[in-house]
Amino acid sequence: MTSVTDENAGTIEIGDRRVRRLGFGAMRITGTGIWGPPADHDEAIAVLRRAVELGVQLIDTADSYGPEVSEELIAEALHPYPEDLLIATKGGLTRTGPNQWPRDGRPEHLREACEGSLRRLKLETIDLYQHHSPDRKVPYEESVGALKELQDEGKIRHVGVSNVSVEQLETAREIVEVVSVQNRFNLTDRSSQDVLQRCEGLGIAFLPWAPFARGALAEPGGPLDRIATAHDATPGQVALSWLLARSAAMVPIPGTSSVEHLEENLGAADLRLGADELEELEGAAN
Ligand SMILES: NC(=O)c1ccc[n+]([C@@H]2O[C@H](COP(=O)([O-])OP(=O)(O)OC[C@H]3O[C@@H](n4cnc5c(N)ncnc54)[C@H](OP(=O)(O)O)[C@@H]3O)[C@@H](O)[C@H]2O)c1
Repeated sequence: MTSVTDENAGTIEIGDRRVRRLGFGAMRITGTGIWGPPADHDEAIAVLRRAVELGVQLIDTADSYGPEVSEELIAEALHPYPEDLLIATKGGLTRTGPNQWPRDGRPEHLREACEGSLRRLKLETIDLYQHHSPDRKVPYEESVGALKELQDEGKIRHVGVSNVSVEQLETAREIVEVVSVQNRFNLTDRSSQDVLQRCEGLGIAFLPWAPFARGALAEPGGPLDRIATAHDATPGQVALSWLLARSAAMVPIPGTSSVEHLEENLGAADLRLGADELEELEGAAN
């Protein structure tokens, strides 16, 4: 069984913390539509514990996953937390039902959300608190300013942003030190390439969400499938390995509700793609 190590996954500094570059996304340990409790509570607890056992040092969650369910399960499974585990949560979305994610970037909402996350995660300070998504109804400066206040009060150690453009990242950086960005990025969706490049330039982490490439690229006979077969690996592992190889800023956070899938996904840390394979994948979706 592959463990994630400093050597095979590499490490990155997130603020004053150093973590291995393959993390775990805890959105999928909830019910259907990211709503309510998971179908199998014990399996969700086992996934979280196994992730840490296998060397994961970064777990990403949000108050809106469940809502509240993902954070509660993390505390149940892992509190008191290992010293080298960084829990990254988010605020700025509310939930009105399965698959519904209205935004709320008002400072008063973000304060309430952060305080709720502190309680559920049983923490005095959240290591990495990310603003989930800009809310068009609220000036972005006001949302980020609320996080800065929470940081000044010691409730947040480091601030991250998510679902931002380069311009929004720069706006946030004028208000607070930003240590990470979390945007959608995978083999078939590279629309945040400019944001990734900016993160590389700044030396901050880029957490690509939805890291698996779905669709045509992964079909039997497609490039992912062929390269996976050559390495006795799975297309998902190839997609993750490509992300890790693509940039030293990249910190994939693949999500799953199953221990079996988790173990498979973390196996990507050991996979080394050749330069020709990386080049083929680079060109495949263009
Ligand atoms: N900032 C944002 O706006 C935002 C948005 C979405 C997600 N995120 C974060 O990013 C993380 C990753 O994104 P994501 O969960 O949407 O997408 P993902 O990691 O690309 O995909 C998860 C899906 O793939 C399946 N899966 C995972 N491993 C598998 C395997 N080895 N074999 C077969 N199926 C597998 C999961 O089902 P099973 O449970 O059956 O394995 C689940 O349906 C989330 O957990 C969350 O922390 C952030």
